[in-house]
Amino acid sequence: MQELLSSIYLFLKSGHVIFMVFWLAGLFMLPRQCIYMLDHEPGSAGEAKWATRMGKLRKIILTPALIIVWVLGLTMAYTMGFFSDGWLHAKLTLVLALTGYHGWLVGQTKKMARGERPLTEKTLRMIGEVPGLLLVLIVVLVYLKPF
Ligand code: HEM
Repeated sequence: MQELLSSIYLFLKSGHVIFMVFWLAGLFMLPRQCIYMLDHEPGSAGEAKWATRMGKLRKIILTPALIIVWVLGLTMAYTMGFFSDGWLHAKLTLVLALTGYHGWLVGQTKKMARGERPLTEKTLRMIGEVPGLLLVLIVVLVYLKPF
């Protein structure tokens, strides 16, 4: 099994990076969509339009990309025997934080679709930076493998 996976390793890595970009793109878009929704009254047609867009972003991009990045990442770690490496432990901690952020943000968008407004525009702008910061740390860890 490991031999077969080694022979397609670069394909796995390409898929991992491609879907990581889709996932991060979705995570950058979602807080922005929330900000646009704030311009619309609860129960209005405008709110419904943004709720539909958020639902599509979640179903078409965010959820599939999250699953594919995890599956390919874990498969590569198994193939190369990285599970005992410190850099992977640190990376997994950061990726778990990113996954938690993803789940929390989706929860906020569902509340907004029900007419609640749990977050202000300022908060949304600030939390919108979280995926970018985690991306920087994760990419540095993967390439430098400092420990
Ligand atoms: C979901 C859990 C994840 C696991 C288990 C995982 C694991 C891995 C492994 C084992 C590699 C191969 C490293 C190598 O061949 O040297 C890799 C590559 C990479 N990962 Fe992940 N990863 C995950 C998520 C992410 C996320 C969320 C990002 C970005 C935010 C990311 C960015 C990258 C990049 C840029 C590479 C390519 C490195 C190269 O070009 O060699 N990974 N990942």
